[in-house]
Amino acid sequence: MTIRDVPAFVPICKTADVRSGEARQFRPAAGRWRGKPMAVWNDDGTFYATNFICPHMGGPISEGKLTDGVVECPWHGWTFHVDTGLPAGDDEGHGISAYEVKIEGDDVMIGGMLRPSGT
Ligand code: FES
Repeated sequence: MTIRDVPAFVPICKTADVRSGEARQFRPAAGRWRGKPMAVWNDDGTFYATNFICPHMGGPISEGKLTDGVVECPWHGWTFHVDTGLPAGDDEGHGISAYEVKIEGDDVMIGGMLRPSGT
């Protein structure tokens, strides 16, 4: 298999697996991100995917509170936009990786990286 054979989007979970206003951790079973833990978000029916680990001290972002598209890390309160991964607070200098998402039937599909983590 060459890089050209890797599908652009692969399923990571079902839409029913993530309740509205929450996130869960999943690992794609195939594709370029196979085995990588990701947080899949359901923001009132719109799905997003980001890094699972907080860049501050490794907190579990998917367990954070989601409000108006912004998640607050449960450990120390850093905030991130789940659609872009960009930091939402004034004090946070680092964002999180965010990934393309599309829905096919009841599958949540993960594509390429929208932005890497870091600044
Ligand atoms: S580990 Fe997330 S804010 Fe500290």
